[in-house]
Amino acid sequence: MQEESSIYESLGDEKIKSIVTHFYKRVAQVPELRKLYPKDLAPAEERLYWFLLHVFGGPSTYLEKRGHPMLRRRHFQWQIDGTLRDKWLDCMNHAIDQVAMESKVRDSLSAYFLNAANHMVNR
Ligand code: HEM
Repeated sequence: MQEESSIYESLGDEKIKSIVTHFYKRVAQVPELRKLYPKDLAPAEERLYWFLLHVFGGPSTYLEKRGHPMLRRRHFQWQIDGTLRDKWLDCMNHAIDQVAMESKVRDSLSAYFLNAANHMVNR
């Protein structure tokens, strides 16, 4: 499996941005998820984009703007069970499917998001 830190090298800014855009388009169509997110999705889109640039080995804009990610803690305010995790993952997997990339990179992304989403379950 490819290291997360080299995903940025394979995809670059544009494709990571595109994944995030597709992800939020999908989230907007899933009421159980949509109701958790702010009315204006644009700032949320930017935060996820910055975060992914950072974890995938790109610029550390996220750290400058938002500080240490502490993602699990930041997600405590929502009750995330297995069902909600699966809805989130469906949106992300759909987003990944919309963007052209090598299958090796796709596998790394799917594995990363599966692991991260499991980590966010808090009930
Ligand atoms: C498992 C189900 C998940 C749910 C229901 C969920 C839900 C949310 C919601 C409602 C927000 C607020 C949006 C905003 O204002 O920025 C958020 C923020 C965020 N989520 Fe998730 N999330 C999930 C999993 C994940 C995963 C797996 C990741 C990382 C791969 C992630 C990364 C982020 C980031 C980076 C933010 C912005 C944090 C900040 O800087 O404030 N989330 N999430």
